[in-house]
Amino acid sequence: MHPLFEAFWYILPAYFANSSPVVLGGGTPMDFGKTWRDGKRIFGDGKTWRGFFGGLTVGTSVGVIQHFIIPTYYGSLKLSILVAFLLSLGTLIGDLIGSFIKRRLNLPRGYPAVGLDQWGFLISALCFAYPVRTIPTGEVLFLLVVTPLIHWGTNVFAYKMGWKSVPW
Ligand code: CTP
Ligand code: MG
Repeated sequence: MHPLFEAFWYILPAYFANSSPVVLGGGTPMDFGKTWRDGKRIFGDGKTWRGFFGGLTVGTSVGVIQHFIIPTYYGSLKLSILVAFLLSLGTLIGDLIGSFIKRRLNLPRGYPAVGLDQWGFLISALCFAYPVRTIPTGEVLFLLVVTPLIHWGTNVFAYKMGWKSVPW
């Protein structure tokens, strides 16, 4: 497998876990509308339970599909599900931490935080999956470079499809 393709194949569940809440989210916010000590929302209305569990389900399912496309990559269905689940959980928790930081900085929901939005979920996903499966450092660096570009591209796409109100 070409190293650049391997990096992309590995991170695919994280990308799906990060993007699917845009379509699947809505309803009760994860902070139940509660505020932090500073009087600002804990996470804000952009983080919902439906988005969280929807992203977790879609991301983990991607691992199942990946196993049936390239069975030799993880070697077992169990391992591919486990890695996809950890990458997805890491993605969604990283995204949540990002929103927590943004609210503390007084940034409104949906306001772009360059760096945090594109790298936060990626780094968190890589950390969660780290104990079970890793990729070489060079491939991690490649993902750090291409993820912001893919993130930007998919957000413009979601905006054009009418799924998002802002193109970032
Ligand atoms: N979303 C969701 N639940 C999540 C994550 C995302 O419902 N756990 C949905 C929300 O509708 C959100 C959209 O996906 O508006 C885009 O996600 P994101 O860019 O992460 O949220 P923002 O609206 O930009 O909010 P924030 O400023 O907190 O990042
Ligand atoms: Mg956003």
